[in-house]
Amino acid sequence: MDYKKGIFKVADLKLANEGRKLIAWAESRMPVLMRLREQYRKSKPLRGFRIAGCLHVTKETAVLVKTFVEAGAEVSWSGCNPLSTNDAVAAALAADSISIFAWHGMNVKEFYWCIEETLKLKPNLTLDDGADLIFTVHNRHQELIPNIIGGTEETTTGVHRLRAMAQDGALKYPVIAVNDAETKWDFDNVYGTGQSTLDGILRATSVLFAGKNVVIAGYGHCGKGVATRAKGLGANVIVTEVKPTAALKATLDGMRVMPMDEAAKIGDIFVTATGVKDVIVDRHFKLMKDGVIVCNTGHYDCEINLEHLRKQAPSPKVIRQDNEEYKLKDGRRIYVLAQGRLVNLAAAEGHPSEVMDMSFANQFMSQLRLAELKRKGERLDNKVYDIPVEQDQEIAGVKLVTMGLRIDKLTPEQRNYQEDYSAGT
Ligand SMILES: NC(=O)c1ccc[n+]([C@@H]2O[C@H](COP(=O)([O-])OP(=O)(O)OC[C@H]3O[C@@H](n4cnc5c(N)ncnc54)[C@H](O)[C@@H]3O)[C@@H](O)[C@H]2O)c1
Repeated sequence: MDYKKGIFKVADLKLANEGRKLIAWAESRMPVLMRLREQYRKSKPLRGFRIAGCLHVTKETAVLVKTFVEAGAEVSWSGCNPLSTNDAVAAALAADSISIFAWHGMNVKEFYWCIEETLKLKPNLTLDDGADLIFTVHNRHQELIPNIIGGTEETTTGVHRLRAMAQDGALKYPVIAVNDAETKWDFDNVYGTGQSTLDGILRATSVLFAGKNVVIAGYGHCGKGVATRAKGLGANVIVTEVKPTAALKATLDGMRVMPMDEAAKIGDIFVTATGVKDVIVDRHFKLMKDGVIVCNTGHYDCEINLEHLRKQAPSPKVIRQDNEEYKLKDGRRIYVLAQGRLVNLAAAEGHPSEVMDMSFANQFMSQLRLAELKRKGERLDNKVYDIPVEQDQEIAGVKLVTMGLRIDKLTPEQRNYQEDYSAGT
């Protein structure tokens, strides 16, 4: 089957109206991206460009997709996680003739089938969240590579792997690391993951955070966000880390720091946020108290080793949505949320629109940058690139304006003073 505009596979097209309302809600809270949409609606700088995207199908992603379309691009989309698609949003996009292959609760084989379908667009730009699309192009569709100008990557885990690929000379087209923009990493990962992870835990459990021992594995951007918000709700936050400076920051931020082998014995709620596998394994499950809640907010579902848990408790029981009870032979119960996948996207709605506004403004501007280079007959080398500092400041500046906030400007005298190496005490 060749690619044709508007081909899709979603759960239920009848959900389109519900999805449209959700998208309109997100649009009303994403003023930076909506300004970009308005700015490029008429000139259509992406006309002639074909974008294949693999990123959580949320209402905010739909705003991004529609902005690409308004700017002239042809788009084909899949979700980047089997449990993160909002079926109503996917239906709304499909009903608006956007090629989309995504539904909530797909299996891993279907997940890759969806990516394959999007590649029938023969994209010249790719957009990833976790690099699964880029890996599929590199491993299975090298014939597409000569026509691909470049790609963008949304998350920390994807950027780590793409940088490793570039280092080994295995990356065959340039990628812009949207994740590493200050207006992405320091906001989306911190405030977005911080709030939406608690949102996911609360929707799946409705537990009281106050007074609980909440163990956060990883005190990077996401972990710090989750830890700070859990502390705000009155939890006793414990952090586990492998990086001395991160552990030190957690300590000075007022968190208790200890190895997981110790935290496992006293935690009530566990959240992994490391981007690394096997953070919670069988020896930790053996130490945990009865009734603990375990979940993950890192990109892949390997941070909690559920195979190990299934060996101790082979028949988990769904006790409420996104919450499974594993009963161990000694009678202890461990509750795993969202099958160990991103709890904020599987059990809640992902990050609030207000924070995705900046992440997706970065995505839009980065795709536009790649397209503009192509128009000028230029091409970046096959490396991973940071977004320009000016782009960060521009996005933050517009965000402030849309929030009705004003800031001071450096005077020429202040700028001179900053750079005056003859000045002293
Ligand atoms: N849930 C979401 O919506 C969402 C949003 C953004 C990023 N992410 C994902 O979350 C993960 C973390 O992203 P980040 O931006 O916080 O990365 P980061 O690099 O800022 O932080 C990760 C931290 O984990 C620590 N760590 C690594 N291995 C560990 C281990 N075994 N035990 C304890 N700590 C360990 C690192 O030292 C580091 O401080 C990534 O997989 C990223 O892709 C998820």
